[in-house]
Amino acid sequence: MSIAQKIISVPAEGSGFKSPLGFALPQPKSRIIPKKLVKLCYTLVHACETLKIRDLADGEFRPADTTLEQGINRQLNYLLDEVACNRPGFRLLEIGSGYGNLLKAAKERGALAVGVNISSEQVKFCNDNGLQTYQCNYRDLLNAKEWYGKFDGVIANGSLEHWVQPEDVLSGKMNDIYNESFQIAHKMIDPNVANARYVTTAIHVNREVKPEFLLTPWYKQPKDSDRRHFSLLHNWMGGYYPVSGQLEECAQPYFSLEKEMDGTLGYKIANDYRMARMMRGWYTNPRMVWRIFSSFLRHYQESRVMFQCYFVEKSWDWQFLGEDPPMKLLRHTWKLNSSSNG
Ligand SMILES: C[S@@+](CC[C@H](N)C(=O)[O-])C[C@H]1O[C@@H](n2cnc3c(N)ncnc32)[C@H](O)[C@@H]1O
Repeated sequence: MSIAQKIISVPAEGSGFKSPLGFALPQPKSRIIPKKLVKLCYTLVHACETLKIRDLADGEFRPADTTLEQGINRQLNYLLDEVACNRPGFRLLEIGSGYGNLLKAAKERGALAVGVNISSEQVKFCNDNGLQTYQCNYRDLLNAKEWYGKFDGVIANGSLEHWVQPEDVLSGKMNDIYNESFQIAHKMIDPNVANARYVTTAIHVNREVKPEFLLTPWYKQPKDSDRRHFSLLHNWMGGYYPVSGQLEECAQPYFSLEKEMDGTLGYKIANDYRMARMMRGWYTNPRMVWRIFSSFLRHYQESRVMFQCYFVEKSWDWQFLGEDPPMKLLRHTWKLNSSSNG
């Protein structure tokens, strides 16, 4: 029996929900096939796991810090505090749960933590390590009635960037997709929980980006131009970023913005640590080199774009460079609007 199928039965303290909580959540039925490019990106990124790079979002660093993990752990603790995951039995859902660092930190606080994720490699890693994770598109949760009201708080840490594709922007669906994501988070939260929160962290775009730039091959764009970096990023990762204020508009009527925090510098520092570790990995970690090599054998086109984007043109770093970087990382704390019937 997999971890995800095991039943955890504990009282939900302080949630107003008296009966024992069964966490035997069924696998959500497939509703929307996830974008192939996004799934594949995490197959390629799996090479980082050999270097113990198992956290793929921003960090929160202090001047005395000397490791990536210090900043990452501080960021995870910030997110858990924001949803008030600080008592045994707290029921947490993470959308896009990566290698499960947040789920693990929540469990250490006594929480019941559940993740959904489209990456088969990451879901296997989590479930092999005792973390309850389901492989599905978070959009499948819209119809997963058995999941409604099962959580005290929801976190999406760095997954939102993948939810909208440039094709969605061109067909005018961008805001609808974000709005639906807030509706889903709303449905997941137990209506009896007082002051429930949903927390998101997401890269936002500071400069104009036409979806057409992302859909044009990078090698047809001028070298070092914004449009070339955008094209490389999209064709490796699959996604499109919101602009400041857009999520707040899309959150209605389900959530209201309670707090916004700029985490751009923390993201840049975390990236610098990851890049330095990856560069050392070329010389010191044959398993990393093997995973990258085998990605090239199996998925040549996508691996070529990833290599060009990350190592050659350094588009990932470019996002946070300079005094006025093209992107910023925003953390948002959303307060549930209890009057909305979702
Ligand atoms: C940048 S990683 C962040 C992972 C993790 N939260 C962390 O901080 O390390 C984005 C995560 O979102 C997941 N993801 C992207 N799109 C998704 C979707 N539509 N449904 C579920 N998970 C998704 C990816 O597989 C990946 O685990």
